[in-house]
Amino acid sequence: MSGLPRSAGACSEADNRGTIPAMQQTPPPPVHFRQLSELLQHYGELWRPIPFYLPVLPWESTHPSLAAALAALSEEDAATLEADQNALVAWLADHIPHISRITDLDSVAPLASQPGDYPMGFERGIPGGKWLQVTAFAGCLEQLNGTVLEWCAGKAHLGRALYQRFQTPVIALEKNSKLCSDGENLSRQLGTDVRMIPCDVLSPQLAACMPETDHAVALHACGDLHRRLIEIVTTQGIHSLALSPCCYHLTTDAGYRPYSMAARDSGLVLSRDDCRLAVQETVTAAAAGVRRRRKKSAWRLGFDALQRELRRADEYMPVPPLNDACFGNGFATFCRQVAGLKGVQLPEAVDWQHYENLGWEREARVRRMELPRHAFRRALELWLVLDRALHLAECGYRVSVGTFCDRRVTPRNLMIQAARQRGVAA
Ligand SMILES: C[S@@+](CC[C@H](N)C(=O)[O-])C[C@H]1O[C@@H](n2cnc3c(N)ncnc32)[C@H](O)[C@@H]1O
Repeated sequence: MSGLPRSAGACSEADNRGTIPAMQQTPPPPVHFRQLSELLQHYGELWRPIPFYLPVLPWESTHPSLAAALAALSEEDAATLEADQNALVAWLADHIPHISRITDLDSVAPLASQPGDYPMGFERGIPGGKWLQVTAFAGCLEQLNGTVLEWCAGKAHLGRALYQRFQTPVIALEKNSKLCSDGENLSRQLGTDVRMIPCDVLSPQLAACMPETDHAVALHACGDLHRRLIEIVTTQGIHSLALSPCCYHLTTDAGYRPYSMAARDSGLVLSRDDCRLAVQETVTAAAAGVRRRRKKSAWRLGFDALQRELRRADEYMPVPPLNDACFGNGFATFCRQVAGLKGVQLPEAVDWQHYENLGWEREARVRRMELPRHAFRRALELWLVLDRALHLAECGYRVSVGTFCDRRVTPRNLMIQAARQRGVAA
């Protein structure tokens, strides 16, 4: 690899840097939250604009040397910076004053954990990565006594792990009836007291099927789903909550609705697109997966170049998610399908090769221009998690925030643990 600073390898992942211990204060450190707010406000011009939508970014004129250095990155160096947050921040520090403080502010220590003892075959049928997440999540919880509510449970793999660990009944809520029946079957086969209730947790009728529970857990519950859970936990005074939030942008709110007073006072206003950035990091895909993802981006960007010219409007046209089949029959067929979907009139003759080439050029550029923004993903995710944690503290809970597993298992590895303090009424 040429000329890039190297971090100490996989073990230098942010969660292992350990500069900030797992936050066990009540409330979580408001100073840290304020510093994160200031960091995100200060560098907003770098992380908010989305290169996929904007062929030229507003900050390119204010940071010309950064733009030039990014554009000049080799494929190999761009891929290295994409995969290594420490190396990325070190590289950016040559172009962006004081950016290296991200490293202190976005570091989170692991929560204390204990390995579980699961009988042979308990994990049968669970994808390997999910089993690692489930056991790591369960391993961070202390003895649970009383009924546990598992929120948006899928097949309730977590619920069964908790039953096995604590011998306590679990009630699992899940909207998808097939997942519910699969979960019921698994619980029966394994002899675990985990009951699935098919229901929509966002429905106004939820109260009718909401059981009385002492504890609540949720692994990777998305935006509005975990907002509802937090509302229920705090209003019903449920004793404890263990939550690993996900997909903060999946909400019917127009913009981000802060939970805590500290977030409201911070002045940081987030859009749904901003929140999406927090979950953009994914587990590193295999080479074939990377090639497929790049092709999809390049074709979308090729179509974008074409539609801008045809409509004589230099603006991005949102295209909904498309299934894999749309990418299976060549670029021209792809563009015809998307044009049909979006009502764009195509001329008789189009130089498809030209627009496909433009797409690939833009794809290579987008990957480089995304790098400054990527440096802020974890800081933003932590800010969103701390907002929830501070709100729970404001509601009378003792709160901890830490990681429950290595980031290679899942980048969504932050967990909020909240326990209602004695004498605090719901
Ligand atoms: C990201 S998955 C997580 C599943 C499980 N907790 C896990 O980690 O394997 C989110 C789950 O929420 C369920 N879900 C989505 N909307 C829901 C709703 N309104 N009510 C109940 N469950 C819902 C989905 O069907 C899905 O199983």
